[in-house]
Amino acid sequence: MSKSFFKSGIAASEITSQSFYLRRREFIKTGIAAGIGISLGGLAPQLALAKDSADGFKTDEKLTPKDSVLTYNNFYEFGTGKSDPSSYSGDFKPRPWTIEVGGMVAKPATFDIDDLMKAMSIEERIYRMRCVEAWSMVIPWQGFQLSELLKRVEPLGSAKYVAFETALRPKEMPGVGGAFPVIDWPYREGLRLDEAMNPLTLLATGLYGENLANQNGAPIRLVVPWKYGFKGIKSIVKITLTDKEPLTAWKMQNASEYGFYANVNPAVDHPRWSQKSETRIGSGSFFSPDRRDTLPFNGYGEHVAQLYSGMDLTKNY
Ligand code: MTE
Repeated sequence: MSKSFFKSGIAASEITSQSFYLRRREFIKTGIAAGIGISLGGLAPQLALAKDSADGFKTDEKLTPKDSVLTYNNFYEFGTGKSDPSSYSGDFKPRPWTIEVGGMVAKPATFDIDDLMKAMSIEERIYRMRCVEAWSMVIPWQGFQLSELLKRVEPLGSAKYVAFETALRPKEMPGVGGAFPVIDWPYREGLRLDEAMNPLTLLATGLYGENLANQNGAPIRLVVPWKYGFKGIKSIVKITLTDKEPLTAWKMQNASEYGFYANVNPAVDHPRWSQKSETRIGSGSFFSPDRRDTLPFNGYGEHVAQLYSGMDLTKNY
């Protein structure tokens, strides 16, 4: 990992605030583990089974090692190889940074990232992330609910969708040039407004207690834990409320393979591979990978399945 990742204009105060949450979490976890050991003895193995908090905000599954989260990435603006984003994103500048929020809203606004981070209460979420390529991770994010930002701009009654755009800076992004671009840049994503307002939907500004590294989508990216990872658009510069389903990068690239909804669904295979199971990154070994069943909505069904009642999820994949 090149040294420049954490140098990029990050204020010490922000690092402190994000790491504060992480330290507190570890302290609480250690305390709970110790308590279980003393008081419940024989029940401990059952309690060790992976569980989510009642609101789904935190899973207690084993975290994916930080090194894997920082070096096994998809961020095609920096190349298509898994190590390209960490190798080639050193020139990307996440400061100064503004996010323009507009479209069908009463109060459009452009937010400076540091002002926004001060205005929002940054909290920790520990989510499973399931990539459409059939691998998964467990990541401790820091960030705030997208709903908190949207409330500030006051969506109009006519707004039905939210569209997102990644920065496009060919000089800092070696993957966006070339005669045959993989993606019709800028990278774009979208959510239905009710999905965007769901409490699980996060705008992440950090992970593992530190500001986001460039390769993970500095300075701010989307995290939607019940959807395939490609919905988690990185390095966001623009958010637009609209009444039409937004164009999304992967659907534009190949609509038969990647849909707008992209809810994790073991019952709907990708045309070229099964989605029934996944490999947990950073766990298991080359000879004995940690392969596990994929859960509907990535295990978040009790919090989000109602958003899709009456919809045919084999058609709306
Ligand atoms: N956002 C942009 N702008 N460009 C990308 O190529 N890749 C997506 C998503 N967000 C991507 C992106 C995919 S396919 C995945 S799985 C996740 O980012 C990976 O996030 P991570 O590298 O932080 O694990």
